[in-house]
This record gives sequence, structure tokens and C-alpha cells, in this order.
Amino acid sequence: MCGIVAYVGPKDAAPILLEGLQRLEYRGYDSAGLAVVNGKSLKMRKVKGRVSDLAEAVPARFKGACGIGHTRWATHGVPSDVNAHPHLDREQRIAVVHNGIIENADALRQRLEAEGVTFESETDTEVLCHLIARTVKETDSLDDAVRRALKSIVGTYGIAVIDAQRPGEIVVARNGSPIVLGLGEKEMFAASDVAALVRYTRQVVHLEDGELAVLRADGFHTFTSDARETAKEPFTVDWDTGHYDNGGYEHYLLKEISEQPDTVARTLRGRIDDRFHIAHLGGLNMDARETRSFRRVKIIGCGSAYYSGQIGAQLIEELARIPADAEPASEFRYRNPVVEPDTLYVAISQSGETYDTLAAVQELKRKGGRVLGIVNTVGSAIARECDGGLYLHAGPEVSVASTKAFTSTAVSFALLALHLARVRDLSPADGRRICEGLRRLPEQIEQILKLDEQIKTLAEKYAQSPSMMFVGRVRGYPVAREGAQKLKEISYVHAEAYPASELKHGPLALINPDMPTVAIVPDDELLDKNLTTLGEIRARSGRILMIGHRVADAADDCVVVPKNETELDPILLTIPLQLFAYHAAVALGRDVDRPRNLAKSVTVE
Ligand code: F6R
Repeated sequence: MCGIVAYVGPKDAAPILLEGLQRLEYRGYDSAGLAVVNGKSLKMRKVKGRVSDLAEAVPARFKGACGIGHTRWATHGVPSDVNAHPHLDREQRIAVVHNGIIENADALRQRLEAEGVTFESETDTEVLCHLIARTVKETDSLDDAVRRALKSIVGTYGIAVIDAQRPGEIVVARNGSPIVLGLGEKEMFAASDVAALVRYTRQVVHLEDGELAVLRADGFHTFTSDARETAKEPFTVDWDTGHYDNGGYEHYLLKEISEQPDTVARTLRGRIDDRFHIAHLGGLNMDARETRSFRRVKIIGCGSAYYSGQIGAQLIEELARIPADAEPASEFRYRNPVVEPDTLYVAISQSGETYDTLAAVQELKRKGGRVLGIVNTVGSAIARECDGGLYLHAGPEVSVASTKAFTSTAVSFALLALHLARVRDLSPADGRRICEGLRRLPEQIEQILKLDEQIKTLAEKYAQSPSMMFVGRVRGYPVAREGAQKLKEISYVHAEAYPASELKHGPLALINPDMPTVAIVPDDELLDKNLTTLGEIRARSGRILMIGHRVADAADDCVVVPKNETELDPILLTIPLQLFAYHAAVALGRDVDRPRNLAKSVTVE
């Protein structure tokens, strides 16, 4: 959600900033801009549109070895040239790029206007720019000016600031929106995400909330908002540029769906013990006694992460027989939750930066809750905040819609459930059954991917419907929710997800030939009930696409996926729905990797 990149060193900044912005475009793509210090003045270009539009607007001779760039996902003010970042003060001395929301922007704006400041844009960021410009004249120190200006700000920010009077210096600060420093050879970088840095360096430092840093070509120093120096240890990121390429696929989304046999294998690697039929999860930082002590599991996450948490809650209840449920982190954090010592809290996030999830984790920690993280991005804010957890090892997910991270999260929950279950009552025989089932997953995902042509034909057929219903019972319900989510976010086809059992309590009224149903029908103990539901839909002239383990007469079309252990089946049933959404979006000519109005990593409230 908004991407920031900054560079200071011996080279021209503009090409480096543009390349970094391209890598960050998944965070926001309604406008883009950059500014560099040239001599003792600022040069700036910004445009409504994509980073490619910005690249065209930047002249070849755009010299300056210190600069900042931004790709925007609009919060305050419509996408436009003038609302694009960077924002400059009237004297064009200070340039600021910002990710986050300044909540008291209106009050500050009124105060500054009363003092004679005129504003160019509708953004909240411009307030910060004028505050810094005013303070820098008093202190003659950019970092001090930024630090003091931030004291007036209520809200969240990741910012990068340059000053025409200080050509070799960038100040960055973080509060709620990520900032990562990249350490090069006589050059320094900063960005919202390591994706923008890995081409140049894999040595990174994450800023904490409330921390600022001054970057110069020969190094950096960090300090707190009350000017106390902090010590930072760089760490090496595993991911390199190859992980961010589209690998020859037309879309990142298809690449990420296709990677799942490997990504699931990576999530499982070294974690299954075939001797004792247990999961090795050293990262949880819990001994057996503590693992046994929990009487409840509460899972939080947002969007698809939440739906994978629903699969997780069912796995934990079924295997470990511990009451478990999932809730959107965005709701949880606002309802003053009761935090109990014998509840294990699990936060899920691909990016590790989702603000709602981070804030929920912080609230839990403040109340003494024990929080585990199931996170993809190593060293991210949520991972750092949790007491322990599991990394997905799924590699970077670039497409806005989550696929491989969803699947790896569900797999991680199967491991966690097995772990919790085997210190309780799950027998070695059942433990073995689950371990063997987990081992079969990569190969079975490979088989599902081979159904691509069939699913493409079906997607092209059903994508013409204005609206679709997704239904599933118990284990099938989170799968239906995720299927509907994928379809609506990338194809813009309206989709409703319901428990199949709830259809007759209301939504059956919607069924007609224009509202087909995708029914998730695993071969489990609820098969007969699900087939009855299909009959009820059919009787109302509803068309049915069934995703399951067999062909059924009641359905118009069936996608048959390999069967695993009943508890693990939801993991596999989701894969055809990812392909279905992908092909529907392509058939409708949508921007698959960058759906309208959305951004990956929602780092604002
Ligand atoms: C949907 C999607 C979003 C994310 C959600 C949480 O395809 O990608 O719903 O799942 O914004 O993001 P993370 O997992 O980064 O916390």
C-alpha cells in the first residue's frame, strides 16, 4: 500500500528509483513520482498512472545521486498528477514521500493555512512537508526537523525526505508503515519492501515503529523519536531478484499458482517426523508442557489470510480437539477482546505488514497474550512482534491476489494442528495418516494443475454470469469463501459465499439460471447432505459447477481433484478455484496482477 524507495550513493538515482518502483508497484499503482537533489536544487517528476508512465516522463538527463520515489494507492485525494508524491514545500527545498495516513491532517492544514501556507494538493502528506520545511529553517538539521515535525503528527507513516541544501542525505522514519534500509558498497537504499532492494543488496535493516534513520553514501545511523541513538544488526535476505521475476508466465498470478507444488514442499521441508509422526516446529518456542496448556486457539488475519485461518481452526479442532476459531484481525482489534492466558493466539500474514493484523497483535501482547505468527516475509513487523511461529517459505508473492501464501498457510496450520494434537490425544496411527497425507500434497497439487485446460474452458463459460454463488459445508465453507474472494477481486464478477446448509434460510431466493453456483463437495461424511443441496439448487433452475472428488449427476460440470485425508482435503480443493478465478479474469480482460482499487500489503487502517 504505497511503495517508497530511496537512494544515495555515487550513481544517478533516477534509474535505481524507477527500477525499485517497478518492483513495488504491487503496493499501489494509481500514480508515481520521484525527486532528486541536483546541485542545490530539487528536480521532480510525478504523474497519474503507472511507473511506466513515470519512466516516460523522466528525461534522460535527470541527474542527481540522492533521491526518493513513490508509487501511490490513494487515501486522501483522488489519483492525479498533483496528488501524486513527492510533495514539495513552496520554496522547493524539501521533498517528502509518505505511506500511511495522517489522521490530524485537516487540523494541521487549517493551522498552516492560517499562518499563510498555501497547499497544492488534497493529500495529508503535504502537511508534513510544510511542517518539515518550516522547522528545518530553525534547526538547520534535516533529521532534527523531521523528528520534530513528526511530533505533531497523529497517524501512521513510512516516509523518506530529502533537502536541496543537503545533497548527500536522506531521512527516513517509520510508524506503522514499513521502512527497510539496504546497505550497499558506498551507497545506501531504503524502501517499503526488500523487493525494491534485492537487485542491489541483500544486507538489510528493518526500522521499528518510532524509529528514524539518516542515510548517507558511507552508512547510516538510527535513533528514536526522542533522539536516542539505536543499534541495529543487519541481516541477509534469502530472496533474490529471480524470486521477483515472472518466470516467463504471462502473469505473476499464474506463476504463483503454478509454483505451489514447490512452495508447499518448502513449507513442509524438515518439519515432518516420520518416526514419531509429529511435526517439528522449533520456531514456536514452546515446550511440550506449555503446548499442552492451551485450552483454546484464536486465529486472526485479514481477507484471504482470515479464510486460511478458518481452515486452520477446523484442522486444530478436528485433530487436536481444542476449541478454535478464526476472526478478521480488523474486527478483533476494535472490539476490546478478552485476552485469556490459556488461549493460544495465532496471527497470519503473507506480507507481515498488514496494519490491522499488526495492531491486533500489539493489542494482544499489551494484554499479555501468547501470540504465534504464521508469516511469509522473514523479519517483517508481525514476525518480529510475535513470540514465535512458522515461516511459510513460499517465496515472495507479487500478484495482489494471494494464492501460494494461502495454500502454504493452510499447510502450516495442518502442521500446527498435528503438533498440538500429538501432545494430546491424537494416536500415532492418526499422526502417521496425517504425515503421509501432507507428504502427498505437492504431487496432488501437480495433478490439479494439469486440469488447467478444463478449468479454463469452464471459467470462460461461467465468467459471463453477472453473479455467482459459492457454497460449501463445514470444511468446504472456507474454501467457498476463498473461491468467491479470488473471483471477485480479480475478475470483478460479483460472488457470494454461503455455508451450503444456510442456502435454504435465505439466499436460495437468488438462485436462477443467471446465478450459477460453485459447490465445494468433498467425499466426506457430509457428501449426501451436499448432494441434496445440489438437488435443491437444480430444482430452482440453478446451474452448478461442482468441485469435489467425483462426478455427480446433479451438477452441470464437475472438476474432480485427487482425494487426500479428509482433514487435508480443503487445501487441495482451493487450487482449482484459483485457476478458475485466474482464467475468468483473463477472459474478461482484467488487469490480473493489479486489480482495480486494491493493493498488496494494506499498511493503513
Ligand atoms: C486476497 C488478498 C488479501 C490479503 C489480506 C491480508 O487475495 O491477498 O485479502 O490476504 O490483505 O494480507 P497479508 O496476508 O499480507 O496480511
